[in-house]
Amino acid sequence: MTQRRTFLATLGSLPVLGLHLGVAYAATGDMSAMNMGATASSVKLAAVETLAAGAALNDLAKLANTSSQPGLFRASLIAAPVTVPLLPGAPTAFWTYNGSLPGPLIEVVEGDTVEINFENRLPQATTVHWHGLPVPADQDGSPHDEVAPGGKRLYRFTLPVGSAGTYWYHPHPHGHTPEQVYRGLAGLFIVRAKVDPLKAIPERLLVISDLKLSADGSIAPNDANDEMNGREGQFALVNAQRQPVLPFDSQGRERWRIWNASSARYLRLVLPEVSFTLVGTDGGLLERPVAGLTELLLAPAERVEVIVDASTNTGKVVLTAAPYNRGKMGDVPAEKALSLMSVDFGKVTNTVQKPLPVTLRRINDLGKPKATKRVVFSEKMSMAGGQHSVKFLVNGKTFDMNRVDLVSRVNQVELWEIANESDMDHPFHIHGTQFQLVERELDGQVTPAPYRAWQDTVNLKAREIVRIKLTHHFKGIYMFHCHILEHEGAGMMGQLNVA
Ligand code: C2O
Ligand code: CU
Ligand code: CU
Repeated sequence: MTQRRTFLATLGSLPVLGLHLGVAYAATGDMSAMNMGATASSVKLAAVETLAAGAALNDLAKLANTSSQPGLFRASLIAAPVTVPLLPGAPTAFWTYNGSLPGPLIEVVEGDTVEINFENRLPQATTVHWHGLPVPADQDGSPHDEVAPGGKRLYRFTLPVGSAGTYWYHPHPHGHTPEQVYRGLAGLFIVRAKVDPLKAIPERLLVISDLKLSADGSIAPNDANDEMNGREGQFALVNAQRQPVLPFDSQGRERWRIWNASSARYLRLVLPEVSFTLVGTDGGLLERPVAGLTELLLAPAERVEVIVDASTNTGKVVLTAAPYNRGKMGDVPAEKALSLMSVDFGKVTNTVQKPLPVTLRRINDLGKPKATKRVVFSEKMSMAGGQHSVKFLVNGKTFDMNRVDLVSRVNQVELWEIANESDMDHPFHIHGTQFQLVERELDGQVTPAPYRAWQDTVNLKAREIVRIKLTHHFKGIYMFHCHILEHEGAGMMGQLNVA
């Protein structure tokens, strides 16, 4: 207890930026209440209306660079419990980076070296994984490099020119990733381009995350349904707020970066009367804008950049996550639409926009593959011990820390075929590099990728096959897995040795 008081006191002196939640650094209450694992019976959840809604959208807290050396970003991240009074009279014990929900935004420029002094004040081992960033295997925050409770480590990597894009960071310890993320550990990372053709357009950062709260304010444990289908709470938050209001820029055009930072929720985003122009994916800008999209589907962990032009409607329009059927198993309620945020076009004075640049950048085709790989996602039902359970497998196996599943040669172009042989969607993600989608195949019908883009996550519908091209530029062990975190936690993950 003494120890805990000490770390909370220390944390209280940290600069907590942009924290709209009014974090109180009080004792976090009974740590044993934060038990983990699935319970068959679900706890009583807080009613949705008990969480305040309708406030102006917050900007994200930013991690300050403490270095004055050009080309170096240096800062500290501390993972620790904090108590946040979200619901009236029922405070919530979150786990956060630097007391911030979501974790503070790290913003660097391509070419920069990043040094993060990390400290783990959680009661569990953890890591910081730099999702999507091209970092050496020993800096990737993989399950092989855990930082023990009370431990520290330095993460250090240089981000090459060409890596500008929209990334994030989150824990990746063996077996505890789902729990640590749903307790609040996930932060944002933007690598800015030295030359950005869309620089003049005001930017909005929108992080969509999931929250499941018990009526007593505690973070609800996973139930059996969460373990099977991936956790979806009663709240889908934008920048950690319920249904905030975004006052749209008076000039009538904004560039939105959107993160799906939820454990398992698919986001089929719709903004009535407004169409999106897609300009970027996980790994940065496309070659050309793709205009006229009436919806955007973001699987867990995916990011996009879109240009939004004001609607001629001068009132408020609700950004909605429309129903998306991802083939959940068991007795689950029908998918329903969720209101995420309202966009207020009332201040817009300008409705005539200049055309966007025809070319955003050049993306070279990775070229002819020198090797191929095949990854199969599957599910296996079992009734072991009278308990109905499902196994989520990669190439027929459950993840094993001591097994290398695939071997690649460094700097070699490969064609990966990923096949979803299950009846449910699964988002495929690989560490350490960005890939190019080549084509999708469903029911024997092959659809080539509509444009060239860099991605680190791609959704696979039930029975779908995708083919991607990729190259790893560092030697070492990298994970690939389903990014429905409960599936990853249950072992739907494999290891690639780049030799
Ligand atoms: Cu977002 Cu293996 O991670
Ligand atoms: Cu990752
Ligand atoms: Cu999955």
